[in-house]
Amino acid sequence: MRVLFLAPSYPPEMIQYTRGLAELGHEVWGVGDTPKDGLPDLVKRSLTAYLSVPRLLDEGDVMARVAAWLGRRVPDRIVSNWEPLVLLAARLREHYGLPGMSVDAVNGFRDKQIMKERVAAAGLRVPRSKRVRTEAEVRAAAEEIGYPLILKPIAGAGSADTFRCRDAAELDAAIKATRHVQEASCEEYIEGDEFTFDTLCVGGQTVYENVAHYLPKPIEARSVEWISPVIITVRDLTQPKLQPGLTLGRNVLKALGMVDGFTHMEWFLTPKGEAIFGEIGCRPGGAHLVDQMNYTSDIDLFREWGRVITDRRFEANTERKYNVGIVFKRAQGQGRITRIEGLGNWLREAGQWVVEESLLRPGTQRRNWKNTLLSDGHVVVRHPDWDEAYRLSFAAATGIKMYAE
Ligand SMILES: Nc1ncnc2c1ncn2[C@@H]1O[C@H](COP(=O)(O)OP(=O)(O)OP(=O)(O)O)[C@@H](O)[C@H]1O
Ligand SMILES: [Mg+2]
Repeated sequence: MRVLFLAPSYPPEMIQYTRGLAELGHEVWGVGDTPKDGLPDLVKRSLTAYLSVPRLLDEGDVMARVAAWLGRRVPDRIVSNWEPLVLLAARLREHYGLPGMSVDAVNGFRDKQIMKERVAAAGLRVPRSKRVRTEAEVRAAAEEIGYPLILKPIAGAGSADTFRCRDAAELDAAIKATRHVQEASCEEYIEGDEFTFDTLCVGGQTVYENVAHYLPKPIEARSVEWISPVIITVRDLTQPKLQPGLTLGRNVLKALGMVDGFTHMEWFLTPKGEAIFGEIGCRPGGAHLVDQMNYTSDIDLFREWGRVITDRRFEANTERKYNVGIVFKRAQGQGRITRIEGLGNWLREAGQWVVEESLLRPGTQRRNWKNTLLSDGHVVVRHPDWDEAYRLSFAAATGIKMYAE
């Protein structure tokens, strides 16, 4: 098949989807903002054709350039796995009359208020929330919803500009800090643990499912610099405490009219055992989550995704063999990494269960931990036993220390 894939080389995991499609024997037509010469070799080898555009997020401009480039050619599929482009992919699909999710369906995955309204209309539990545009609307919503509450952009990503407000003073601070945000969602703060529900779907039915546990919740991991965020995929999806979340997830897919491809949902498990919807995207999770899912079952979901969106089939073995923990590290101090402590000890302790170690090396400039969960690198460790995977992950979180100057 001829698959037009938006952003085939950026963010970096897109390289693997491009590779997966090519390995299945499909023609991959890439559209991205990286100059052709700057594409990674693996992408160059995997693409059949490439259109470089100056502003990938300018939908009108990209649509016009793609139309001019394609001329009379029409691809069989148009897809994207990157959140800012899922709507553009849907618009292009509608323009060319191709199968896949409609603009309206994708809107339900993109606009956090429409999303919650559609999920709630299906009788599923979502945080009480209001769409707000002005300071007055925020204050009125806060009055109605009460504290603690969450104020976050309608089309947010990466937890940017997301604030938890415990009282009026914190709300004032959040209002000040979000002046540049056009539209926000003001919602009830849900106590409890936070998990993902990740799927590959064919016709809205899950052919692959995954759950990962955030330790701690992203909003906490994002507000305290010394925390090393840990995310562990859960091997045993049959355990009773997860069933409300799995059921919620499948029902959310129905409510939003999911068709083919990846989804990445976040949900809360309250102390009472209730599952409450957080948010969902019709694309894979970022920050190496798909690598973690691959390590969980020793499979290649990058390629399986290609099979799903072309042949509408999934072939990998979904047996879950491991709990896979990823630990993001943040150096102490600013500037360049100067040294790493405790890594040797941890590597010896975790031994054969370590699957990746990619901490930034001394001499490298620190990444901005507020902008990217990737922080200053990560380690990945897995184990068939949950407690052991948890212990080894936290041994890395507390035992490995990075310094910068
Ligand atoms: N109603 C809520 N109750 C409790 N916590 C919440 C609520 N809404 C958001 N959060 C916290 O804030 C985080 C970021 O919110 P959300 O996932 O909606 O935004 P985002 O910017 O899309 O984040 P990301 O791209 O990191 O997933 C959540 O992962 C969760 O920890
Ligand atoms: Mg989120």
